Amino acid sequence: MIQWRIWKGQASSSYKYLGFGKTACRRNEMEAEKRIKHYSSSHKILLVGEGNFSFAASLATSLGSGVNIVATSLDSKVMLNKKYNKAMANVSRLEDIGCTVIHEVDCCTMSQHPKLMSNLFDRIVFNFPHAGFFFTSESTPYVIDLHKNVVKGFLRNAVEMLTENG
Ligand SMILES: C[S@@+](CC[C@H](N)C(=O)[O-])C[C@H]1O[C@@H](n2cnc3c(N)ncnc32)[C@H](O)[C@@H]1O
Repeated sequence: MIQWRIWKGQASSSYKYLGFGKTACRRNEMEAEKRIKHYSSSHKILLVGEGNFSFAASLATSLGSGVNIVATSLDSKVMLNKKYNKAMANVSRLEDIGCTVIHEVDCCTMSQHPKLMSNLFDRIVFNFPHAGFFFTSESTPYVIDLHKNVVKGFLRNAVEMLTENG
């Protein structure tokens, strides 16, 4: 499944933490597959175009593990640190729970990225794809084309990186 969401509110509603329930068989429960809507802890999940990594941190926390999650940003680590005050805390949290974090991943070329090219994923998600802000209106044809190219590039690459049932 490839997913991209334009409306920020939709993406944010997924960022809520869903904790484990208390049972007598805590150990078994933690080892069992955990499902949240269309995500499962057994899915290989690729997150693309993360901003401050809050979605990745929330998803990994909710699934109880990050070992099957690869979370990526277009921004370098230095740039992330400048742009978002919580990004580094989220990245540390992700690495602590086993998630792979990779910076400077462009969705338009990601299928050829050296750290991604040998992997297939069950879920590939780009929440709120957006080319960035420019010194002109969002509604100019030039800016609209930039956004369209990000979405097209993402879809062209993502389709090559999906598992058969992804
Ligand atoms: C509006 S923000 C959304 C951030 C995050 N996905 C969220 O939902 O909060 C758009 C993101 O797309 C990223 N982006 C823009 N062009 C990209 C590209 N070619 N490849 C990967 N990410 C890109 C930006 O760096 C930015 O983080």
